[in-house]
Amino acid sequence: MSNTIDLPTYSDNRGKLTVIENCLPFDVKRIYFIYEVSSLRGGHRHKKTTQAFVCLNGSCEVFVNDGETKNTFTLDSPTKALIVKPQDWHTMDNFTKGSILVVFASEYYDESDYIHENYK
Ligand code: TYD
Repeated sequence: MSNTIDLPTYSDNRGKLTVIENCLPFDVKRIYFIYEVSSLRGGHRHKKTTQAFVCLNGSCEVFVNDGETKNTFTLDSPTKALIVKPQDWHTMDNFTKGSILVVFASEYYDESDYIHENYK
């Protein structure tokens, strides 16, 4: 099942700085952003790819089903990363206006890595 991790964040009177370094359970090969969302996204799991979701601005919800457990995570802070493992079938919705979801992925994009069928 997916889990969230708290990203190291440095605050001072100039603002905040959050770092992703040696804290993800994979090396990052690909980064993409999801924004201006108007309907449900995702709806798949992967054969190999592990991902980390961070909502940089605003908030969104990520529903996850790993075949045994279902969970909904609210991502509402740029200091929180949701680790989505290959077996975690997931959808993303309820994006607030202006929200930006950044995704770090362990693999290069490969359509054949996608499994669209949800668990029974
Ligand atoms: P899609 O997987 O449908 O997005 P989501 O999981 O958010 O519903 O991807 C949308 C389009 O973008 C689709 O044509 C594939 C393309 N795409 C890439 O070319 N590279 C990528 O890394 C990703 C994630 C998608």
